[in-house]
Amino acid sequence: MTRFQRHIFICINERPPGHPKGCCKEKGSEEVRDLLKAELNKRGLGGIVRANNAGCLDACQFGVSMVVYPEGIWYGGVTKEDVPEIVERTIIGGEIIDRLVPNDEHYRPGQTHNARLVLPPRKG
Ligand code: FES
Repeated sequence: MTRFQRHIFICINERPPGHPKGCCKEKGSEEVRDLLKAELNKRGLGGIVRANNAGCLDACQFGVSMVVYPEGIWYGGVTKEDVPEIVERTIIGGEIIDRLVPNDEHYRPGQTHNARLVLPPRKG
């Protein structure tokens, strides 16, 4: 088995105030990232799922943007309230949360996805 079963890349790119593209950082991406890491650790998944900082993912208009690999699931407009659901339904359950998929054909999953995580044994 590979070191990590999933990588979640979260854009924390910052642009100057007033930039026409905006940026994910000004929309709260660092807080989303921190909560995501905390949620993964709370559930004992930190050793098999890695949440990584990313630069601009070229999905600025949808930010806060993230992508989950190896499946290539793109989410946009992610808020801190979405984090527990992303971990439960997408990371653990292998399910795509349709409302978070950007409304653009380039960010839609190309295939049905239903691979569940292989959970580590519980401690204690
Ligand atoms: S600034 Fe986040 S995707 Fe470009």
